[in-house]
Order: sequence, then C-alpha cells, then structure tokens
Amino acid sequence: MSVGQVEAIAQTINSIAGATFITQPAKAVESPFRPLVPDAQVLLESNDPYLEIDAHISQSEDAVVTVLTTGPTILKNLPFFLSNNFKTKPVVSHVDLTNFDFSIITSLRDLNYPIVISQSPKEAAIYSRLAYNLAVNSQKSAFHFYAPSQYQLKDAFKPKGDVLIKDVESLQTSDILAYFDVKPFELVNKVSKPKDSVLYLGQLNDEIIEGFTKENVLLITANVYQPFYLQSLLSIIPSSVETITLLLQSANISTTQSSFSPLLLDFFQEYPKYQTLKNFSKIVGSSIGFIQSGKYATAIENLLKNVRSSNPVQNLSFGKVNTEISTKSSKKLLEDHEKAQAGAWKLEQAYLKVLEQIDPTNLRILNEFNGSNVGQSNPEYGFGSFLYDQEQRENFVESVHKAVQENRFHSIDNSNLIGYLSQWLVQTRSGLPVDDKTITEVIELLKTDEVSEVSKELLAKQEYFRSHKNWLVGSDAWSYDLGSSGIHNVITSGKNINMLVIDSEPYNEKKADGNRKKDIGLYAMNYGNCYVASIAIYSSYTQVLQAFIEAEKFNGPSIVLAYLPYSSEFDSTLPILQETKRAVDSGYWPLYRYDPTIEDEKESFKLDSSNLRKQLKDFLDRENKLSLLASKDPLLSRNLTQTANTEIKSQQKKVAEDSFAELLKGLSGPPLTVAFASDGGNAEAVAKKINRQALGRGLKSVVLEMDDLSIEDLPTETNIVFVTSTSGQGEFPTNGKQFWDALKNATDIDLSTIKFSVFALGDSEYWPRKEDKHYYNKPGKDLHAKLLFYGGVELSEIGLGDDQDADGFNTGFNEWLPKIWKALGVDKLEGVEEPKPITNEDMKVGSDFLRGTIAEGLQDSSTGAISSIDQQLTKFHGIYMQDDRDIRDDRKAEGLEPAYAFMVRLRLPGGKATPAQYLKLDQLADFRGNGTLKITTRATFQLHGVVKHDLKPAIRGMNSVLLDTLAACGDVNRNVMVSALPHNAKIHGQVSAIGAKISEHLLPQTTAYHEIWLQGDDDGDEPGDSKAWEARKDGPKRTKTLVAGNALADVEPFYGKTYLPRKFKIVINVPPYNDVDVYAHDIGLITIIENNEVVGFNVLVGGGMGTTHNNKKTYPRTGSMFGFIPKDKIHIACEKIMFVQRDYGDRTNRKHARLKYTIDDMGVELYKEKVETLLDFKFEEPREFKIDSNIDFFGWCKDELGLNHFTAFIENGRIEDTPELPQKSGLKKIAEYLTEGKSGEFRLTGNQHLLISNIEDKDLDHVKSLLAQYKLDNTDFSGLRLSSAACVAFPTCGLAMAESERYLPALITKLEEALEENGLRHDSVVMRMTGCPNGCARPWVAEVALVGKAYGAYNLMLGGGHHGERLNKIYRYSIKEDEILEILKGLFKRWSLERNEGEPFGDFVIRTGIIKPTLEGKYFHDDIAEDA
Ligand SMILES: Cc1cc2nc3c(=O)[nH]c(=O)nc-3n(C[C@H](O)[C@H](O)[C@H](O)COP(=O)(O)O)c2cc1C
Ligand code: SF4
Repeated sequence: MSVGQVEAIAQTINSIAGATFITQPAKAVESPFRPLVPDAQVLLESNDPYLEIDAHISQSEDAVVTVLTTGPTILKNLPFFLSNNFKTKPVVSHVDLTNFDFSIITSLRDLNYPIVISQSPKEAAIYSRLAYNLAVNSQKSAFHFYAPSQYQLKDAFKPKGDVLIKDVESLQTSDILAYFDVKPFELVNKVSKPKDSVLYLGQLNDEIIEGFTKENVLLITANVYQPFYLQSLLSIIPSSVETITLLLQSANISTTQSSFSPLLLDFFQEYPKYQTLKNFSKIVGSSIGFIQSGKYATAIENLLKNVRSSNPVQNLSFGKVNTEISTKSSKKLLEDHEKAQAGAWKLEQAYLKVLEQIDPTNLRILNEFNGSNVGQSNPEYGFGSFLYDQEQRENFVESVHKAVQENRFHSIDNSNLIGYLSQWLVQTRSGLPVDDKTITEVIELLKTDEVSEVSKELLAKQEYFRSHKNWLVGSDAWSYDLGSSGIHNVITSGKNINMLVIDSEPYNEKKADGNRKKDIGLYAMNYGNCYVASIAIYSSYTQVLQAFIEAEKFNGPSIVLAYLPYSSEFDSTLPILQETKRAVDSGYWPLYRYDPTIEDEKESFKLDSSNLRKQLKDFLDRENKLSLLASKDPLLSRNLTQTANTEIKSQQKKVAEDSFAELLKGLSGPPLTVAFASDGGNAEAVAKKINRQALGRGLKSVVLEMDDLSIEDLPTETNIVFVTSTSGQGEFPTNGKQFWDALKNATDIDLSTIKFSVFALGDSEYWPRKEDKHYYNKPGKDLHAKLLFYGGVELSEIGLGDDQDADGFNTGFNEWLPKIWKALGVDKLEGVEEPKPITNEDMKVGSDFLRGTIAEGLQDSSTGAISSIDQQLTKFHGIYMQDDRDIRDDRKAEGLEPAYAFMVRLRLPGGKATPAQYLKLDQLADFRGNGTLKITTRATFQLHGVVKHDLKPAIRGMNSVLLDTLAACGDVNRNVMVSALPHNAKIHGQVSAIGAKISEHLLPQTTAYHEIWLQGDDDGDEPGDSKAWEARKDGPKRTKTLVAGNALADVEPFYGKTYLPRKFKIVINVPPYNDVDVYAHDIGLITIIENNEVVGFNVLVGGGMGTTHNNKKTYPRTGSMFGFIPKDKIHIACEKIMFVQRDYGDRTNRKHARLKYTIDDMGVELYKEKVETLLDFKFEEPREFKIDSNIDFFGWCKDELGLNHFTAFIENGRIEDTPELPQKSGLKKIAEYLTEGKSGEFRLTGNQHLLISNIEDKDLDHVKSLLAQYKLDNTDFSGLRLSSAACVAFPTCGLAMAESERYLPALITKLEEALEENGLRHDSVVMRMTGCPNGCARPWVAEVALVGKAYGAYNLMLGGGHHGERLNKIYRYSIKEDEILEILKGLFKRWSLERNEGEPFGDFVIRTGIIKPTLEGKYFHDDIAEDA
C-alpha cells in the first residue's frame, strides 16, 4: 500500500465534517487510516459494517458521511446500498482495491451512484474531493476507488481550500469535473497513428504503459466510471484507430467468465447511440489478473494477437486471474486476518467450553466455526439449517405417529416397541426430553424387524429420535438492527433454539450512541416468550452455568447475551477480565436472567449483579419488579438510590458545607487548604499533620484529597498547600490524577489571587538508572511549575522529601514547614500543641480488647466501608478491608466510593479441613464472596470479595463448621502451619496436633470475637449453626473472666491490651521437607524424629520477609538456630520467645517492629538468654537434620496405614472455575462424595497447593475419576511452574504495586519455551513473585524472585537456596517483561550448559559469580552490583 494515497485521502477526510467509519478485517488488523483519522469509528468487516452505517445515517444529521473500506467489503455489503439512505444521502466510500479487483466497480454500475477512480497520490488527493462534490451534488452515495500504486508517486500534491465547491448543489456534473480538471477518460500514452486502442479499467503502472506504447497501441484509462461518458470516450479516440479492447483487471476469473464482460456490456449499452462518432472494426472484451513485473510484455503480446486476429475470441484472460490475493501486502493482510479470526475463536471458546461442560452429548452448535467453513459459520446459515432440520424432524414425528397407528412392525417385541414409541411421541410433542435408554431400546427393537419397510425408514433417520440442544453463536453484529436481523427471526420463531450473542466491545471504548446494541436483552424481554440472560464469564462463572442450563431447559427461544470485551483478538485474559469488571460494576453490562414462564414475579427476573443500567431499570419499573428486587438485595437498593438521588446528594453536601463553615467560625486566623495525593499514606499523613499544626496555630485549616478540589473553585482559595507523593514512574497518586489532568488541561485559569506551596514526597533512588532520574518527585515539581505558570504566588519554594535522606521525607519536611508558618505569619507562636496522631498502639489500647466500633460499623448501610481504626482492629478478627482496584478509577470518575469488600482469612492450624468444612467454604465463596477460594502461602483458606453485609453471615457460616478466623491476621500469633507430609500418617498426626496446640495456646482470649460475630441470631443462619459454635470446646472464647471485685472482664494473659508490636508467625516442618519455609518465620520448628516418633524440635528464631523498597533499614532474614526443645515443652518455648518479642519489640516504628529486627538489635545470644530465663531451662544442642527441598510433591502416594493422598496442582492457590479448568466444581464434587460417610480430608500446603488426603482404597477409583473429569489430576507441568508461587496482589490487595497471581502463570509460559529448548523442562527452579516487598509469597528465599516495584516493573532477585535456606539478592532493579525474559532465558541456558551434577540454579548463580550470596539478612543490601 502506498502511503501517499492513504495520506492524501486522509487529508481530504480531515478537512470535511461528518462521521467517518473505518472498516477493518479484525480488531488486531489495523486499517492504515486509523492513526491518520483518529476520530473515526472502527467497524469489523465481518459484521456487516454498512448495516451500522445505514443505521447511523437514519439517525444523524451529518451533511456527509465517510467510509474507508475495501473492495471485498463493498461486494459483501451490496444489498445495503439499495437502502433509501444511500440513495438520498451523501455517503462517500473510499475503496481500497488491494486485490486489484476492478470488477467490483462494474458491479456497482446499476446503482447509479457516482464512481471515480484514482491511480496516484495526486489523483487520490483530487478525486477524493471530487467524490464529495459529486455526492453532495447528487445527494446520494458516491465511490472513490484506488489501488495501491507506485505510479506517479512523485507527483504528490496538496490541495488547498474547502473540500466542497461553493454552491455545489446547483452545479452540473460536467462543471464539477471541469472545476477539478478531471476528464472522464484519458489518453495515457503518446503513440503515432495507432490502429488499436485499449480502454483499461485496472491498475496503471509504467510497465503496462510502456508495453502498449511499444506496440503502438493507444491506452485509455477511465477516471469517472459513473456517469459513463461514452461520448467523451469516443471523442478522444483518434480517427486512425480501428479496434478497441475493453480490458478489465479482475482478481477472480469467475466474475469474468460469462460470455461478455461487464465492461463490454457497459460499453454496448450506450454505444448504439454514439456509434456515428466512432465506428470500430472490432470491439473485444478481455480481462487481466495480477501480472508480475516483467511479464507484461507477454500478456500484451497475447492480447494483441487476439485482437489482431481475424476472428478474435471474446473474453480471453491474461495473467494470474484465478487468485484473489495477489500482492505481498494483501497476502500478509489475509494471513493477519486469519490469525486474528483464530484468536477471536480461541477467546470465544471460553463460552463454548462451558456449554460443552454442561453436557456435550446432545449439544449442537449450528454454525460452528472451523476455518474451512467460514460461510457456514454465519448465524443466518445456522438458523436456516436449524429450520430445515426442524422440518425434517417434524416429518419424522409424523412418520412415527403414522407407523404407531398402523402398527406395521415385525420386531421381536412389538408391544414393547409400540409402547416405547408412543411414550416417545408424547414426550417429544410436549417438548420434554426423552431419556437415552428408551431411544436405544427403540432402535434395538427396530433392528430386529428385518421385513417391514417402516422400520427401515425409521432406522434410516434414527438421528431424529434424539432431540438436540441447538445453539446459534452470533457476534454482536446481529444486534444493530433488531427488526431485520437474525435475533428477530430467532425470537419470533417461537422455536426451541438457543442463541448466544457475544458482545466484544470493551467498556472503555463504548460508543456514545452504543445504546442500540445493548437493547437486545430488553427487546427480547419485551417480546415476552423468550428466555433472556445477560452473562459475563470473567465476572461470574456460576451465573454463566446457570444461564446456559436454564436456556437449554427452556422450551422456546432463548437469547443469552455474553460479554467478552477485547481490544485485540490476541488479548490475554487479564485485560478482558479487567474490562469485564468495569462494565459489570458500572452497570454497563448488568448480569441477569429472565424466564417469562415463571409466574412468581420475584423469581422470573433475577438480577445477578448489583448495578442496573437506566433502560433496564425503566423496563423493570414498568414491570413493577424493581421494588421486589430492591427489598431482596440491600446492596442494590443502595446503588439505585446512589445513582438516582443526585438531588439528595447535593443537599447533603450543602448541609456538610454549612456545618463546616460553622466549625471554622471559631478560628480566627487566615484560611488554609491542605490538599494531598497519596497512594501509600505518607503524603496523607504529612497533610494531616500540617492541618493539625495549622489548627493549633489558629488557622482556619481544612485538609482534603486533591481530587476533591475543583478546578473551578481553585482561584477562590486564599492559601493552599499541596502535598503529593510520587507513584508509578513519576506519576501522580490515584487520588490526585483527576485534579492534575484538569489543571494541566485548563486553558483559561487565573491563579494570581492564590498563595500556594507544594511539598513533594519521593525517592531519589526509586528508579536508580541515570536516564530515569527525572522521575524523582516529578508530580510535585510539575504541579509547582504549573501553579506558577497560571500566576499563583509562592508561599515558599517547593519542599522535597526524599526517602533516601537520613530521616526519610521528614528531613525535607522539617526544613520546608517553618517557611510556610512564616509566610502565613504564624511562626512566632509559643507553645503550639499539635494533637498527636493515633498510632496502632493507641488503637489497640483504646479498642476494649479488639472491639472498637466494629459492631456499629457493620450496621451502617450508607457506606461499604468501616472506619479506619476498625480496619486495623478487624485484622485481629481475620478480616481485611480492601477494594477492587481494577475498577477504582472508573468508580471514582462516576462519583462512587471504591468497591469495598473484605478478605476473610481462616485460622486453620495444621492446614486441614474436613470435606464438610470444605463444602461450607465452597458455598460461602459462592454466596458471600467472589466465587473463588484462595489457598494462602501459610496454608489456610481466604475468601475474597465479601461485601460488608455479607461479613457476619460469612463468619458465622465458617464457625458453624467449627472454623474460625480469630487471629488469622493482626499483631498476634497467627495460623500455625505444618508440613503436609502425605506419606507418614503418624508423624503428620503428631505434628499437626502440636501445631493446633500451639495455636490454641497462643490464641487471644478476648470475647470480642464471639460477641461481635457469633452472639444472637442472624438472618443468614441455617438451623443448628449457633448450637455448633456454642458447643465448641476450643476456638474463640465465649465468656469473660471473673476478676477481682466479682467483675467479669476480658483478660489477655499473654498479650495484654497492646498485644504484640507486629504480626507473629510459627511453622513446623518435617525434614527432609521444607514445604512451610521453616527459615522464613518468626519461629521455625524443625521436627526431630526418633524411631518414627516426634521427640521434639530444633527451634529457629527471627525469620521474616517484609521489607520496604529502597529502605536499607528493612531487610528479610532467615531464622537463627536456638537449639532443641522436647515436644511436650515446645508450646511453652514458643510462648516465651513470643514474650521477649512482646516486651522488647519496637512499638514506635512498625517498619522495625518484627522479631527479626529485635533479635538483630539485641544480638542472637542475648535474645536466647532472655528466653531461657523465662523458660527456666536451656535449649539443648540442635539435633541433626537434613532438608532437601521446599516444594510440594505432586500426584498420589500411600501412607503407612494404606491410606491414599493426592497432591493437586492449584496454580497460585486460586480455586476457581475457568472454562479450561473447572477445579472448584471438581473439588466440590469430591468433597460431596467424601461426606457421604467416606474417608478423607483436605490438606493445604504452604506452597498454595491442596491434598486430597486419607482416601481409602475402596474410594480411590471414584476419587480418581472425579479428579480426571475436572482436570485436577494433571500434574504434568514444567519443573518451574510446579515450583512457583505468587501472592494475591491485584486486584484485591491494597498494597500491591504490580500484578502477581494474575501474571506469573503467563510469564512462566513465556519462559517454558526456553526451558524446553535447554532440556530443563523437568528441573525445579523455585521462582516466586509478589506484588510488593511485603513478601507474602516469601520471595526472598526463592532461587529466582520478582518483587513488584510499579505496574509492570519488578526487581529481580537471584541466588536463594534451593530449599529455602539462603536469602537471595537483588540482581536488577525495576525491569519489565522483555528484560526479565531476556535475562532469565540467558541464565537458564548457561545453567543447562555449565552446571555441576545436580547443582541447583540458586547455587549455580553464586558459584559462577553472577550474584553474591546473602549470608545473613542484615547484609542483604551489601554487594549489590553497581549496574543492577
Ligand atoms: C510504586 C511506587 C512507585 C514510585 N515511584 C516513584 C518515582 O517515580 N519517583 C519518586 O520520586 N518516588 C517514587 N516512589 C516513592 C514514593 O513517592 C515515596 O515512597 C512516598 O513517600 C510515598 O508516599 P505515599 O505513601 O503517600 O504514596 C514510588 C513509590 C512506589 C510505592
Ligand atoms: S506481597 Fe504485597 S502485594 Fe502481595 S499480597 Fe502481600 S502485601 Fe499484597
């Protein structure tokens, strides 16, 4: 494609108003016009684009409409050009003839629309303008054709002035042509007294011109094909000419195979009228296809031979005619298109796989796509074949009916046969399914009848005994024009057919007028006889299943609208998932199911997502179902009032403003506004500190988020201080982005009346490379410059806080702040008392043993959140408040609060659950959570996405099966994790009992947990729930302790009111296994076994993972060996180790509060001594042990009691259903099977995998078959994948800086190819990823680790010990995927070539000097390479 032509056309388009549409073969195959005409709307060529354009024309007032398309698309859309819109409105189509098929032009002739053809960039510039003038002049469509060309490339030309000629409506066509100096036909070459002439409708080039000139043949080209000015053609042909060949370039021979070519016909239509002007001796029609350079001369020679013969043959073809695609670029286009189509098909499989999962036996996709049958993948085709099939079946039913009536069978058991057939008839006619057994019996009996014709006939058509579940799959193209589309046909047919309509338009790209499309659901519901569902597989898998099952059951038409938003056919699932969430959350794509046959109104419409979009709401209002829905779903009612009642909102705002003004009256000083933007809380804390001090100095100060400042009001401020931190790569934090965008783009803002200052927080080493230095405190600096630019007056110069300074950002802050007070005239005040900020320690003390205002907060339905203090306190109850970060920005833009939901973590000592307990969790995940369960890196279960009003029912549900969440998080001893140890039942029993004992021993004694969550009744309870937890012997305490004075009080004998300085973790491993990472926790217990009996533990103290990027005072640490403790005393030893940390841990700085810092500050020996003093005995010498690995061993094994255990691979611990892996359904089925009085338990590992344990031989086959059915039995993954782990990170973890769980699997896939090439597929490399340096997946002890730094950027660590015994070290800072892959692929290759026998990767990189070893945590930051 010559860019010259495209650019020339784009210039014209950009100079004319009105909508522009671009067609392209696939989302991923871009039209060259896209970057040049950015405002154009893109339509897919397979989706009948002219149908949508037609709809646009009907509705819009555009003076002209432009379409940029291709020849084949025009051909496919021919019927649309007959629409009145195209006959009466100027629509200009610029048509690319990449395939050189000029026969498309002739096929348009009967439409009588102006057609012009350009051949060079210069012509493209002129003719594109000409086309608009002809269209406006005739008030109908016009076409401008052009083929890719190098012809006269140098003649580029830039037209000036308006596209449309003044008063073009009133001109004659000939005037317009004259204006542009365009002749309908043109002589291309100069020859002397030619005898032969050729009118050529095809691609010109120098070679063809030369060829004809050499032969002294006059070459004429058509510039205007319609109107066909034959007169003008004849008048330019000199008198010497005797013959004319009408030569059409055509790609496809079939269009020119008729006896007369269309060009010839066009010529003859007018010729009789003008024959007097020119009488030819011969008029010959011919065609040429694509001719390779160098081959023209031969083609021309043959062509002339024919014309010059005495009896020329009509319609000879020359060149490559039978090939549609002729150039390299068009071939590439086709290939790309095919690839994209395959990509789309792959994405859409997500839905089709679920259909297959439900029941593949009688499923029939009527228009299944498979490359070779593109035409038959069209839904209309499918519907046609369905109707045909239906007719055949109806005839068959009639035949059966007749046969039964006449009873002409001679089978071995006629009475049974008649009985079965009658039953079949009754059921089939009433639309009920017939069971397979009956059908098989019928067929078998018919086969025994060797004589009757009727039996033979029925057997010949036996497929019609079975009814199919028929599905049509349609793209969203069907939905544009409801009246005439396939949707309408399906709905009105009343037939039992299901239709899946996949909508792939991303929410973010939704069009302004995109409503029409979304109406299909409403249209179908209004129609009233149709099952309708709106689903989104990446939002709710369960709902998809429900909808498919219901649609198949429904005896009539079903329309299932499925959302699958992708921007490119090659998108991975992550962006699709994120787009889906946004669309569902915003109400753009509501999830619902509607069954008109259900009479109970409450049940006929089920809303499965909580947001409704306006049209749906109107429909429901009309149908009067909304109030019923709202009363059923409190969240829905909140969302509805939120969107509906803007009036109330503004009133509330006013009340708030008034009371605030009232509050300020008490203060006398000048006003000050402190606006902050902060992601992690530092800038927010600084802003609040400034505000507190300002109030203390008598200023009328307010503090608010930057995004809550309006640009319009900014000039009305008096004094304003901005505090912003830096996130991403020099970007504004989320809650300041909106403000910054508005400020940056403001055009007429005058800030000369305000005084301002900026304090910026950043890290000069966050992006250590030289070229990245400008990211340092960039937002603050940009903001400062912009405010100055708009005329703002500085209160003081910008203040810069740097994490690298001795006192972090406080160094810069302490220098800057006094200047502000001075500027405001409040610097000389004595004795200003700043109210102290509330610390975590204050919160604990003031919480009344972890109560806070949690109970009250749960009652508040005006927000999905709880107070910030309660957020800290609920952690002790196993609950974290989070919000969905995928949709944070969108909700903010909509003025909604973040989508708050809670993570609820179980305390699961020993990491095991009974099948009944597991089933309960599975149910709670579906009904109270986000439909998934997460196995954590500390071997417990977590539920995500629990909204506030589901919290209590979720926790009560867990307690009803004796699982609790107390102390699963918070500054206490948390879940005690033990090795999974499937092959040794006895030892596993002993260590898990000890784990449970330690957990119970160190459990907080507060009755707050029971009081808040369990006391009394709740609507969500099931019978017997409360009895279960009230009868429990262990777990959360139910009654207070009697203390002095006969009072009942909460007592925390181990913790006191302040609990621990920070979290505290204990694990137990059983050598040689280290699946719990014994070195990485506050206490690591290494089990010592003698004679297959646990005798005690070697005790490691002071391991820990969390760090802060670039803060060298923070580091990971492996535990220090204290020595051996016998098993009966181990819980006491753990208690005393914890006490020393309780009493000596740093309570002033949470970043320095873990035991690992206490022990390093104090010295290992002194810490140990203090423990021994409390214990009153000493640690014994550590006993010998050997550890081999810290990964899991997958597959089956048998223990010494003969029980079987299967370790399943659950990637990153996420138990969910996906189209490829329905693992959650599978585990549920296994749990259901095991609860039926069978053996078995579920066991979790610290590597986030799951064991189906204690299976007796008699149950083994069944469990194996379930594992296979649900693809849980596959453990054939690469060694790298099997040894990998990732933390949760996005979208739920509030601390995540980068993706982890959702990204690591894809990254590993990209590495696997290289591993395979180097013969490393089965070699284990422990690789871990976390979204931030808190290190939940223990990255610092992995051989390869990636720790999130910013979205898409990670620090790469190397050199950890293969079984978790050694810390790794930073190899590269902040690298992105390309670099990660390049580095790791290179290193893996070296490892494969240079490693010693059995040498693990972590050891290899150290031996070969690629990285220095980290021998102790405090040296983690030493020896990092300078160019890291
Ligand atoms: C993901 C992330 C990216 C960062 N990027 C930068 C940066 O580009 N430039 C910079 O100066 N500081 C950067 N920082 C450092 C922070 O701005 C700094 O630590 C600040 O104190 C954080 O404040 P906050 O808690 O209010 O967000 C980054 C920090 C994080 C967590
Ligand atoms: S490591 Fe960081 S991002 Fe990952 S789950 Fe833990 S806190 Fe969240």
